[in-house]
Amino acid sequence: MDLRKYIRDIPDFPQKGILFRDLTPLMGDKDAFNYTVKEIADHFRTFHVDKVAAIEARGFIFGAPIAKELGAGFVPIRKPGKLPYEVVRKEFQLEYGMSILELHKDAFKKGERVLMIDDLLATGGTALAASELVESLGAEIVGWGFVVILKNLKGEEKIGKYHIFSLVNFD
Ligand code: PRP
Ligand code: ADE
Repeated sequence: MDLRKYIRDIPDFPQKGILFRDLTPLMGDKDAFNYTVKEIADHFRTFHVDKVAAIEARGFIFGAPIAKELGAGFVPIRKPGKLPYEVVRKEFQLEYGMSILELHKDAFKKGERVLMIDDLLATGGTALAASELVESLGAEIVGWGFVVILKNLKGEEKIGKYHIFSLVNFD
């Protein structure tokens, strides 16, 4: 299935110079959304995933149904001040500014196998910070799954030590 026709380009959002790849048409189409979730889950089906960890907000939309498909648990990695228990936190740079991510300290048992999910990889700042948080708790990352990778921003170099899978690549 060609998912590109469900991805809308919005110039200068959220700031001038950024070409925003809007996945809401893909999410809203039952065939495209179900295909996306199934394809990513199928790719990782043999990886023995204990938990899927996904990143607020758009990562949650894909991460939770992928976890369900794999019979895995779900762990939210959130923006600051949202998680109620003790957290580990990491500040980082993203394509359009700075951000902070937090993860509950007891989210993983040592050695648990974790599939990381986000909607889109741009500079890789988010993915690298999330990876560091998960590994700081002693869990093992089995791979990263994205719907979209923006190849020219070279995010794959930042998380090059992990297995990476995506359905759509833009140059
Ligand atoms: C977007 C996207 C990724 C991140 C990728 O999230 O969902 O998480 O940017 O950018 P990077 O590779 O340059 O780090 P955003 O921070 O805009 O938050 P949202 O999901 O809440 O919209
Ligand atoms: N997250 C970071 N960069 C993005 C972009 N260009 N489009 C959509 N989401 C993004």
